[in-house]
Amino acid sequence: MTAAADAVREALRARGRDWPAPIEGHAVLASTNDRLRERAREGAPEWTAVLAGEQTGGRGRPGRGWASPRGGLYLSVLLRPSLAAAGLLPLAAGVAVADALRAEGVPAELKWPNDVLAGERKLAGLLAEASSSASGVDWVVLGVGVNLAGDAAAWPEDLRGSATSVEALTGRVVPPPEAAAAVLGHLWRWYDVLRAEPSSVVEAWRARSVPWWGRRVELRSAGGSVTGVAAGLDATGALVLALDDGSRAVFLSGEVTRLRLEPSGLPEGR
Ligand code: BTN
Repeated sequence: MTAAADAVREALRARGRDWPAPIEGHAVLASTNDRLRERAREGAPEWTAVLAGEQTGGRGRPGRGWASPRGGLYLSVLLRPSLAAAGLLPLAAGVAVADALRAEGVPAELKWPNDVLAGERKLAGLLAEASSSASGVDWVVLGVGVNLAGDAAAWPEDLRGSATSVEALTGRVVPPPEAAAAVLGHLWRWYDVLRAEPSSVVEAWRARSVPWWGRRVELRSAGGSVTGVAAGLDATGALVLALDDGSRAVFLSGEVTRLRLEPSGLPEGR
């Protein structure tokens, strides 16, 4: 499916960017992340990208699948950041995806650590996978999945009510190569910002986040579940919660949900 790869390159050129690395297009892949991890191990250059028309084994976080029917965006891109930049790279990528979607008129918001929502329904997701050695980070494969087309009726039952798409929100069908070029173009810009001024990435992420600051949330991770008030992000992009005992706790990973009821059973804010 080189036509799709050519279309991405062309759309990037129209945005003023001559893409400096290979772009692979495939009609069907198990997972674009899996394919690009192979290419990374073979020494592929930074910014190599892989696009698939559909995925048969799309992977999500944490250890979940990612429904990948034809019409969606399934894109992975290879970066080789410094150790210092690698930690905030997933947040920078979230900002880039949100900007690409907002430019399409979609009210995209970010939910920590890197879900992209619209109206609290999942619109896109990011899966960052890295390999490092004693000398630093060898590579990071950033996988981006965006629900471009379709509506709830077409999705697996477990997604109905919790997912949405660009088409459902705007009535427009964005061709995947165009969406890929938009994401890559914005990622290019935010990667520059990340290396020059990392604190701007944290600020930009927060400015695009769901408005949950000051609200009670539950964080579920391998270590169990904690509830507290979402207080902010620290300089490393970790989530800071104010706990009921007055202390603050910092989390590097986990799944956050907003609690709609106070522990007393009364609605929030009463
Ligand atoms: C999430 O669960 O929120 C992350 C989903 C990431 C899905 C994308 S689609 C392209 C790339 N290839 C994969 O197998 N996963 C990522």
